[in-house]
Amino acid sequence: MSVSRRDFARLLALGGSSAFVSREAFAKQATSLEAMGFSAAPLPRTPAEPDEKFWGEVRSRFLVPRDIGFLNAANLCPTSLPAIEAMEKNLRHYEMNPSPEVRTVLIHAREDARNLLAEALRVTPEEIVLTRNTTEGNNFVSSGLTLGPGDEVVVWADNHPSNLGAWTTKAKRFGFSVVTVPVPPTHPGTQGYVDLFAKAFTLRTKLVAISHVSSNSGDLLPAKEICQMARERNVLSLVDGAQAFGILDLDLGTIKPDFYTGSMHKWPCGPKEKGMFYVNKAVQEKLQPTIIGVYGGAVGISKTFENEGQRDDASIAAVVEALKFQGSVGRAAIEKRARGLANHFVTELSKVSGVKLHTHADPERRAAIVILQPGSLDPRKLVTALAEKDKIVVTGRNNAQDRPGIRLAPHFYNKISDSQLSLCA
Ligand SMILES: Cc1ncc(COP(=O)(O)O)c(C=O)c1O
Repeated sequence: MSVSRRDFARLLALGGSSAFVSREAFAKQATSLEAMGFSAAPLPRTPAEPDEKFWGEVRSRFLVPRDIGFLNAANLCPTSLPAIEAMEKNLRHYEMNPSPEVRTVLIHAREDARNLLAEALRVTPEEIVLTRNTTEGNNFVSSGLTLGPGDEVVVWADNHPSNLGAWTTKAKRFGFSVVTVPVPPTHPGTQGYVDLFAKAFTLRTKLVAISHVSSNSGDLLPAKEICQMARERNVLSLVDGAQAFGILDLDLGTIKPDFYTGSMHKWPCGPKEKGMFYVNKAVQEKLQPTIIGVYGGAVGISKTFENEGQRDDASIAAVVEALKFQGSVGRAAIEKRARGLANHFVTELSKVSGVKLHTHADPERRAAIVILQPGSLDPRKLVTALAEKDKIVVTGRNNAQDRPGIRLAPHFYNKISDSQLSLCA
């Protein structure tokens, strides 16, 4: 065996120093959050070149105990403390006075969230729907377009079930066909990916459904170029941004998808069960709402696509604080930090004999997900041992037929202490 669990633990050590609060101390909850080193206060201004001290300030806005190396952002992220505090405050306020007046205030905050989302994504509020998650947004597209016999939809085999199985299930119901583009053995570069999808198009193709970042390989797809290629052929584009929104400094005005979906509870570190669905103004009349009810949004497509009945308004309103928090760090700084940590892993793990990286070595071809086969170690056992013995949380690709191994997904709240860096040198 070329590599041991201890080797992995050392390489993946991105927690805090021993001076930080332990899980046990945290559990006692004896003192206030501030005394334990956590804070929901506004961050200091982000330096031009943020140092570990600054990232320590960011880290203190997350409740994950400091002795845990949480590398599971691709699955679910911790909510930032400012958003948690807003959720608590909103909830208490509402439960003390569940009147239409208080509700109206919270519903107005939904519009603030929409405005902030539009600003972050460089699009207009009229194009944003506040959904429950990426799954819902993806299904709004596959259920909402008028497709039938003779129409084809091109999907990528690496898509999440909500953007893969959802299409094949609805194809059976509505009579259209699904063409599945295979996963390439390795990231083929921008033109390689564009060609891969272009090859699957026919005159009957009505939509292409891709993932911006694959959760199975970590590949960052050339979304802008694929959307452009589709537009030139009069084909609609759906980009699943679950693994891109909140980590990449997205500019949907430049990528120009027709539909883009994301989850607030992943990389944006927002409240759970909140999502974002972008619908390009140019195609809004092509999409029918799946849910008909009341309490729609105030502007644009949200008027027809948010009529989902009563919702958790207190929690939706906290989306505002989550977005403001990431905005205060700076989206470009977040992207640079998270991708920098992923680069660190790729560089160090590439040196370990026996380790096979499924994610491409070129930093331009990935975001912040790194997937690898850990030598001859059993991924399932490794994931458990890392969690139990080293307090490092990663995801196992235990049942994967292809690319088996483990998935690391660092984010801007992870820290590299000097000693841990030197261990990797
Ligand atoms: C690419 C991709 N799309 C969609 C989803 C589903 O996200 P959610 O459960 O928030 O709807 C995931 C979940 O990991 C994902 O990786």
